[in-house]
Amino acid sequence: MSTIYTGRLVLRPFHQGDAEAMFRNWTYDERVARYCRWYPHIDIDSTYELLELYLSEYTDTFDYRWAITLADHDEPIGCIDVVGFADEGRTPEIGYVLGNSYWGKGIMTEALRAVIGKLFDDGYERVIACHRIENPASGRVMENAGMHFIGESKVNMKFGSARLCTVKNYEICKEHYNEQDMHC
Ligand SMILES: CC(C)(COP(=O)(O)OP(=O)(O)OC[C@H]1O[C@@H](n2cnc3c(N)ncnc32)[C@H](O)[C@@H]1OP(=O)(O)O)[C@@H](O)C(=O)NCCC(=O)NCCS
Repeated sequence: MSTIYTGRLVLRPFHQGDAEAMFRNWTYDERVARYCRWYPHIDIDSTYELLELYLSEYTDTFDYRWAITLADHDEPIGCIDVVGFADEGRTPEIGYVLGNSYWGKGIMTEALRAVIGKLFDDGYERVIACHRIENPASGRVMENAGMHFIGESKVNMKFGSARLCTVKNYEICKEHYNEQDMHC
């Protein structure tokens, strides 16, 4: 499975034993879950279950989920992954979360840029992501990673909920990966 090294980060596969750090750093935290589709974990058992799911989903053909760790400390402080595919499997959609203590340091911009590069290296031509309109910081991450706003849509606010919310959709195309201001 792939590990990605950036200037400050190591993006590595999740391991058995990561649940405590996941719970401590983000899965318990309403501030992190607020604009995501999952609910904060009330106790660590839910995080153990999530980690088991993560580990079971790694296959020969899908390993696009990384624990975000700092280069000098092998503890997950967040997660970045492919949450689905559009265009009949041709276009991966990226999602991400980061522990509150680590916000505002450019960490997710660095991680997102690296994951986009990995997906392009693997042959994908376009990558997408979206964020709730109430969560502009995530839009800045996408823009800073070179993605472009392409429109709004409605999605289910939470897993298992029929309530809809508005999201802003972004894309980046391989041919424009190193150009900051061109659309596909
Ligand atoms: C959104 C999130 C991923 C950002 O990660 P991060 O590492 O703090 O992001 P970065 O430091 O790389 O960049 C943050 C950008 O947002 C900007 N920002 C922060 N708060 C903001 C706000 N309230 N409004 C607008 N921009 C904001 C910062 O100024 C920065 O942009 P800049 O570099 O142009 O100044 C992180 O806060 C998080 O995990 N939140 C909870 C989970 C989540 O929302 N995930 C995304 C779901 S779509």
